[in-house]
Amino acid sequence: MTRKQGTCDVILRGGSVIDGLGGPAVFASVALSGDRITAVGDLDGWEAGRTIDVSGLAVAPGFIDMHSHSDLALLVNGRAESKIRQGVTTEVIGQCGFSPAPSPKEQWAHIRELSGWMGAYVDWRWETFGQYLDALADSGVSVNVVPLVGHSMVRTVVMGEENRAPTGAELAAMADAVRAAMDEGAFGMSTGLVYAPGMWAETEELIALARAMSAAGGIYFSHLRNEGPGLLDAIGEAVRIGREAGVGVQIAHLKASGEASWGRAGEALAAIEQARARGEAEVSYDAYPYTAWNTGLGQLLPAWAREGGSDAVMRRLRDPGTRARIRAAIEAEAAEEPCRWERRLLASVETEANRGLQGLTLAEVARRRGKPVPDVVMDLLIEEDGQASMVGFAMSEEDVRRILAHPIGMIGSDSAASAPYGRLGESHPHPRTYGTFPRVLGHYARDEGIFSLEEAVAKMTSRPAAKLGLADRGRIAPGVAADITVFDPAAIADQADYTRPHQYPVGIRYVIVNGVVELDGETHQDRRPGRVIRRG
Ligand code: ZN
Ligand code: CU
Repeated sequence: MTRKQGTCDVILRGGSVIDGLGGPAVFASVALSGDRITAVGDLDGWEAGRTIDVSGLAVAPGFIDMHSHSDLALLVNGRAESKIRQGVTTEVIGQCGFSPAPSPKEQWAHIRELSGWMGAYVDWRWETFGQYLDALADSGVSVNVVPLVGHSMVRTVVMGEENRAPTGAELAAMADAVRAAMDEGAFGMSTGLVYAPGMWAETEELIALARAMSAAGGIYFSHLRNEGPGLLDAIGEAVRIGREAGVGVQIAHLKASGEASWGRAGEALAAIEQARARGEAEVSYDAYPYTAWNTGLGQLLPAWAREGGSDAVMRRLRDPGTRARIRAAIEAEAAEEPCRWERRLLASVETEANRGLQGLTLAEVARRRGKPVPDVVMDLLIEEDGQASMVGFAMSEEDVRRILAHPIGMIGSDSAASAPYGRLGESHPHPRTYGTFPRVLGHYARDEGIFSLEEAVAKMTSRPAAKLGLADRGRIAPGVAADITVFDPAAIADQADYTRPHQYPVGIRYVIVNGVVELDGETHQDRRPGRVIRRG
């Protein structure tokens, strides 16, 4: 590639350019002007405002985190430290059924409570989806954001946290809310079908709501109803929703969870391939590179005990008779898996008093408190007002690899942006929060060789961009947005682990968002060049 001489704002000189499409890296320079890539090639004699020598380094499109929970975290700290330092330049938020909008004023108190400590911490001042996006844009963020509207939020707003089907009028109101969010910039709707209240939606309700976004080209993102023994049925449900509503489908954090389901990744992938081959639905998925998941501690409660919102849950936890029933249910579940409590870590809590328990196994917490695990879980939920999380070691390494390696797979951290300082730094997140992208590139591509570096980059750039219809991101080519991550392929590595999660990865040298060098060597420049991207 040769081009005539020119000028530009920034030139990345002499790197190994991985264009994001999966083909082999080429030795080239990249010129940026304003927020665009303007030239790729030899670029000898070009003049630039700033020349960055990237010899020996890989120059890739900025990574797209296909599954992020930064909706409120970006309002707590717009620097998105844990994401930027992994090379992430765009996050898809509003996942697993949760989005901070719609949020009618008369329901603010309840919605903020549902949203954990961040709900109380941020300046909650939006009602509509568009107003939330405005608030996010006005606050200034370092990464680009692609928003989804959460089904659980829509359902809560319209019909509360109730375990029943909607009436015709309620369904129509939910469809209107989904349509409104689409008009205001959403790329689709997400569901969280293991969480209250999303779990109470039957397939018909989800088809109706997915239809409400089909004309606008919305995509159905789903945390499936079952990730263990019922995985194939749950994939079937997502495919059916895509087929009957005529929308694309993205399965969130695909996994085969629980020892009884180990080895079933192949069947799950075959089901997805088949749905695509038969033209049923455009199904794809994302995954994170770890054998443990992370979720709310309250998910240990049986489904019936999670009905009716947090006040109802707290009343049950305090009532001796109901406690006994819950204890029996938790014990019966645990009996299915030997040593379950050794494989569950208490992750984040919100009270100072319990901070010292963060990162311990539930078995260890129970030993320290001298009570059985189910009682300790119920006590912790009361003490933490329901806001505690856990990590569960439940996937096989073999399944994780197969799922990561399949060409349909994209990469999603399933985490909110964090930082090792400030209020965010007090939490105890899953290491995927800091390590997802470097771990795929360093551990899985370079060290384990499960795919090439170029293929790994494609999974985090051009493929999610194509799925989302982001025509001008996810590639290195003239005219494309200047979202770029420069890393050292020999050095890139995740550092976070389950006991010390707040560790930045190593080997990421420069991260450029819309033409602005936001990570410059070790330094986060805090220029907040990210944009809220609205569909359409
Ligand atoms: Zn999820
Ligand atoms: Cu999620």
